[in-house]
Amino acid sequence: MAGLIERYRDRLPVDLETPVISLEEGSTPLIPAPALSKILGEERSVFLKFEGLNPTCSFKDRGMTLAVSKAMESECRGVICASTGNTSAAAAAYAARAGVPCYVVLPAGKVAAGKLAQALVHGAKVIPIEGNFDQALQLVVEIAEKEGITLVNSLNPYRIEGQKTVAFEIVDALGAAPNTHFLPVGNAGNITATWRGYRQYHEEGVIHSAPRMFGCQAAGAAPIVHGKPIENPETIATAIRIGNPASWQGATTAIKESEGEISAVSDEQILEAYAHLAAKEGVFCEPASAASVAGLLARHRAGLEICPQGGVVVCTLTGHGLKDPERAIAGLDIPPPVSSDLDSLRQRMGL
Ligand code: F0G
Repeated sequence: MAGLIERYRDRLPVDLETPVISLEEGSTPLIPAPALSKILGEERSVFLKFEGLNPTCSFKDRGMTLAVSKAMESECRGVICASTGNTSAAAAAYAARAGVPCYVVLPAGKVAAGKLAQALVHGAKVIPIEGNFDQALQLVVEIAEKEGITLVNSLNPYRIEGQKTVAFEIVDALGAAPNTHFLPVGNAGNITATWRGYRQYHEEGVIHSAPRMFGCQAAGAAPIVHGKPIENPETIATAIRIGNPASWQGATTAIKESEGEISAVSDEQILEAYAHLAAKEGVFCEPASAASVAGLLARHRAGLEICPQGGVVVCTLTGHGLKDPERAIAGLDIPPPVSSDLDSLRQRMGL
């Protein structure tokens, strides 16, 4: 399958001169979630758009293929981003592919191990700071401007343009728009982009209705829900540990235009959804990704409307569970070995 620039070329700001830096991203599966569908009842269908199956295992590859391709179209000294981890992994991989230097500025001690490993392995210059994501973003915006290095955070408009393709793929797979779409919100680029994709298909007449967009922030990092920046955001979902989202306006527009809502989910609710997805649906995503499903379950439990009877709900699962192995095994016992004979094995198996 070709990458998304090739597949959606006529809907993206590229021409034949644009060098395509691609790892064949996109085309991620839209997986039915029967256990969640059963919880909602009344023949509603829940689908998981599993973005963890992109080349660097998160949705960031969609925006990064376009941002780095466009950077290579003009003179590019290198690329830079602030990140809670996934943007840095994607930037590092696409920069490696393009053969340009990559600088990533991260909140020290707050990036999941898999993501840090990716940035390092792809040869990025990794710079942890004693500060949070919001501070890192301020710094990189300033240095990118001063040093003429291309910023590849979602303030770069090509990131949002690339990421809107997730909505195209969902519609292309379902043959129509879903009724409702839940997704996690951190810096708010993805909700902005996903809504833009649905709107574009709507304006082109590909779909006749657009979904209601439900954004889910972690309770300790929910500036949009509270209507003001959070100085010290905290959540176990480190990917969305953000107190002052760059695309705040885009998120509120998406919610308003689609008649959706932004809500906060607690770390407990996020972990419950994370465990449900792994144990009941067989899908292993990272904690921040599970915020979408946590938001769905919270809304269902509160008795609020999600979609009509027989309707379709999509939850974006933004990143792969293997990104954060420490969180995955936290609180679980790794069993000690048994001796290598059949009796011991049988005993341990409980047979
Ligand atoms: N889920 C995951 C796994 C993420 O990595 C992010 C953002 C989000 C959700 C939220 O998306 O920011 O567009 O609202 N991660 C960024 C990063 C901030 O640096 O990797 P958003």
